[in-house]
Amino acid sequence: MSQAVPYSIPASKEEEIEGKVISHFPIGDRNIDTVTVESFGEEWEKFDDFDQQEIHQVGNEYFDIIDLEALREARALDVGCGTGRWTKFLAKHVAHIDAIDPSKAIYPAAKLLREEQNVRLSVAGVSDLPFANDSFDFVFSLGVLHHIPDTSQAMKDAVSKLRPGGQFLVYLYYSLDNKGAFYKFIFHCSTFFRRMICKMPQGLKSVVCDIIAFTIYLPFIGLGKLVKALTPNSKLYQKVPLSYYIGKSLNIVRNDALDRFGTPLEQRFSRKEIEQMMTEAGLEQIRFSENTPYWHAVGIKKSQNQ
Ligand SMILES: C[S@@+](CC[C@H](N)C(=O)[O-])C[C@H]1O[C@@H](n2cnc3c(N)ncnc32)[C@H](O)[C@@H]1O
Repeated sequence: MSQAVPYSIPASKEEEIEGKVISHFPIGDRNIDTVTVESFGEEWEKFDDFDQQEIHQVGNEYFDIIDLEALREARALDVGCGTGRWTKFLAKHVAHIDAIDPSKAIYPAAKLLREEQNVRLSVAGVSDLPFANDSFDFVFSLGVLHHIPDTSQAMKDAVSKLRPGGQFLVYLYYSLDNKGAFYKFIFHCSTFFRRMICKMPQGLKSVVCDIIAFTIYLPFIGLGKLVKALTPNSKLYQKVPLSYYIGKSLNIVRNDALDRFGTPLEQRFSRKEIEQMMTEAGLEQIRFSENTPYWHAVGIKKSQNQ
């Protein structure tokens, strides 16, 4: 724990779960959607069991643009860790990770990360991070900032904790800017249903999203697999909606269906908009992965005197 970045304010409460200490910090009402955070807490209590191999496989997709070898001495911060799957992925590559989340997801995270000695867990929001500015070598936030009212401000708040020269990795839902009209049409239909489903009580929402996973996701994934088998030398199958889930477990499919249809606040951004937000947050040398999940990108924090 000697590698840990010191907290900049005292914790308001500490508790020990699964042998891990969870420190709680005040979560203000600035730039946070509390209904969405509560919804995530309940979602992650349902999906708290991740397969190690799948964490490794999907983690490699998110971190494909990061030189993991170069992070060996790094002190990292996972903003919006959820159940801590990507903290778990990264823990073996870095010196220390602080994983923060404002929701009850921190409890399953304690379970998943109980054996990781170089991980510290905190309940906190991105606008009230309990660390001094310029503290971390690597900050990442995967699938989080689009669930926050002002994504651009949240990105600036996360980047403020990064030292100049440090790297910031982000994954934000894309606005289908690289997809055709059919794909966009299907997506707009799904948004219509999402607006109704996300308002349902949690139990009903969960059942409805499972029905969607089995009756919509799985058939599309099956169709994608069929196209892939029939045209092995082409990327035609990628035109089939939800083909991203080919080879992913049912757990991930059900979890993502609940994520997609059950979350009250979801925003989407084009590559250009993400690049602009990253630049405004003080990042340079921005690089996007050309691979799924779209879009994930990395940038380096400019030094103050630039
Ligand atoms: C889709 S989950 C992603 C979790 C994790 N990064 C992953 O990919 O497994 C989004 C997470 O963002 C968290 N979140 C929502 N609002 C937040 C905020 N203002 N600050 C930090 N995290 C927030 C939620 O509690 C939730 O765990």
